[in-house]
Amino acid sequence: MRQMKHKFVFTSFAITAVLIAGCSNKIIKSSISYSKVNVLETKVDSVLKLMTLEEKVGQLNQYNGFWEITGPTPKEGQAAKKYEDLKKGLVGSMLNVKGVKDVTALQKIAVEQTRLGIPLIFGFDVIHGYKTISPIPLAEAASWDLEAIKKSAAIAAEEASSVGLNWTFAPMVDISRDARWGRVMEGAGEDTYLGSKIAVARVQGFQGDLSSNKNILACAKHFAGYAFAESGRDYNTVDVSETTLQNIIFPPFKATVDAGVRTFMNSFNELNGIPATGNSYLQREVLKGDWKFDGFVVSDWGSINEMISHGYAKDSKHAAEIALNAGSDMDMESSAYVEHLVALVNEGKVKESLIDDAARRILKVKFELGLFDNPYKYCDENREKETVGSPAIQEGVLDMAKKSIVLLKNQNDLLPLKKSGQKIAVIGALANDKTSPLGSWRIAADDNTAVSVLEGLENYKGNQLNYAKGADVSVGRTQFIWETKINTTDKSGFEEAIAIAKQADIVVMVLGEHGLQSGEGRSRSDIGLPGVQQELLEAIFKVNPNVVLVLNNGRPLAIPWADEHIPAIVEAWQLGTQSGNAIAQVLYGDYNPSGKLPMTFPRNVGQVPIYYNYKNTGRPVMNEPDSVFWSHYIDEKNTPLYPFGYGLSYSKFEYSDMQLTSNSFAKNGKIEVSVNIKNTGKVTGKEVVQMYIRDLIGSTTRPVKELKGFEMIELNPNETKKVVFLIDEKTIQYFTANAKWESEPGDFKVFIGGSSAKTLERDFQYFN
Ligand code: BGC
Repeated sequence: MRQMKHKFVFTSFAITAVLIAGCSNKIIKSSISYSKVNVLETKVDSVLKLMTLEEKVGQLNQYNGFWEITGPTPKEGQAAKKYEDLKKGLVGSMLNVKGVKDVTALQKIAVEQTRLGIPLIFGFDVIHGYKTISPIPLAEAASWDLEAIKKSAAIAAEEASSVGLNWTFAPMVDISRDARWGRVMEGAGEDTYLGSKIAVARVQGFQGDLSSNKNILACAKHFAGYAFAESGRDYNTVDVSETTLQNIIFPPFKATVDAGVRTFMNSFNELNGIPATGNSYLQREVLKGDWKFDGFVVSDWGSINEMISHGYAKDSKHAAEIALNAGSDMDMESSAYVEHLVALVNEGKVKESLIDDAARRILKVKFELGLFDNPYKYCDENREKETVGSPAIQEGVLDMAKKSIVLLKNQNDLLPLKKSGQKIAVIGALANDKTSPLGSWRIAADDNTAVSVLEGLENYKGNQLNYAKGADVSVGRTQFIWETKINTTDKSGFEEAIAIAKQADIVVMVLGEHGLQSGEGRSRSDIGLPGVQQELLEAIFKVNPNVVLVLNNGRPLAIPWADEHIPAIVEAWQLGTQSGNAIAQVLYGDYNPSGKLPMTFPRNVGQVPIYYNYKNTGRPVMNEPDSVFWSHYIDEKNTPLYPFGYGLSYSKFEYSDMQLTSNSFAKNGKIEVSVNIKNTGKVTGKEVVQMYIRDLIGSTTRPVKELKGFEMIELNPNETKKVVFLIDEKTIQYFTANAKWESEPGDFKVFIGGSSAKTLERDFQYFN
């Protein structure tokens, strides 16, 4: 350690010397007083001045972890090449290197063996926790609890930073309307307003105070349009209008910039004919131009070279030229920059000033993290031992997990379960699964580390539990290691499950998707219950209709039969390490469910993409008796199974007395909209009160409803609270036909309720 320090001190001297020289030049050349010089920029420039073109390009290069650090030093192949590059100062960042020991070892090479000793930053996909896993982001979004979400990100940052990491590739802020797309589990769902608030909460949670070693860099991804892949098939073509881009897709990204996010990731998809990675409209014009983003953009994994397959670049060199010129600052795993940028500058195809700009952005972030002062800031083995999986972190993920559960149906108050005297049959392979609840993107968590539902229920001793699997969901992996094989034939366990169901007072069935059925590359064309689970559900229901269905899934599912027949349905997503405890506490009423859906549940996959803020169309209703010529399906309703914003509680909430302080307002004015909410149930509960508006006529057509505010309140039985929302000119702004964000005078509606479907409404007008 002392030796490492020594080398770094030497490097620091070198940098400081140039820094001082740089400053004095400035002082001589200008009359600006020294104190006005931006110290950070000056430091960055001073380092930059020391660097060769090769070294600057090196900062733009990010490699995946390439060798077993504890093993022999690589002598051949790709690992040897990467190792040599590292020693030559041709690497700016690493991903997927984790653990204080490994991070320290690599940082030591960068700091001690390269000419300038510039430290590396270490990135990792801390998508919902590092080793202690919190609910999948879609589930967290269902809490609508911004403080809880922020805290969850802060907890993840605390654990990840303790193992040497200082950068997460999260949050994913892609608005997604298509449940077939496997990555909906990684985002905040379908709504731009909610998604923007959650994006900010996550950035604040991860980044907090970057001078602390408990916070890490956040990364808003994937810029942009990735979730609008045609047919919901991952990586597929994206073709969306400017209106959709500006009004639906961009705002959460913009919100993260305003919240100070330090990095962005571009995306795999093409957007309207141009791959996002090579898209200068996105990266230079919008992000770095209009929004003045001053952090850096990392490409997605290999996405620079993928422009060759897109048919946009003829080879890797051409791809590097396009990507850099378009504003992609760091190359994740394509090696295109490190191999070609120097030649491209020498050939005049890429301006050195653009390389300088990219390197400057990356160096600035390294200074902001304090890595030049202490490259081993995150490397403390004692802290690592104390932090990973600590009781406080477990407590934190449990709290988040409870808040993420959504009660979808509860006929005859079947839930909460009685705490004693009951015979309960627990059925479903997922009830006894300690890996699947970790969900997708839990790359540092070990298998079998989640609390299963069965274990959670076993903590309650008053009832008699009987368990039967019924049927496997997953039967191992396919030929691809990250793909799970679903049981579509084996029903041999049905009999045992039917037998225990027959004798039970109540049946808790845990069904749904295996954790590896959602996430990257896991699009589905059928979003019902996978495998033989639907048959199992029907077979059990036949012998005992007192079924509580607990769903585990990474996306909205189409479960119309269950909705029609099963009396109680609990949406429990994939809730992470504390999954079973959270579910048991909700089933037993020790936590009163308060979640609301962040994404519409369809009746049928054919309705997808289905979302609450759709456009009315020219033929929204049947205008003549028995007409077929209106916007509908001949074999399915238009409405969803469960709408956006929907979720029940063990309490009952009554909305009344909606009032507006005025029926109109002008440019600098406002209206206050209030409503009374009463808890008419028997227990204390939380309700997310939601406000939507509709702009009746616009210069471009407007959605039938748009979320514009929400507030979570807690009410004791019989208690009433008044909730007040504000409507002002900002509330009604959108990206108009004038191609700018502005308000348009006219007639509006405002709705308040406990979901996007069930609302009170009033009219108002806006004049300017
Ligand atoms: C994903 C990114 C992720 C990156 C690094 C890519 O395949 O699209 O979201 O951050 O891999 O693991």
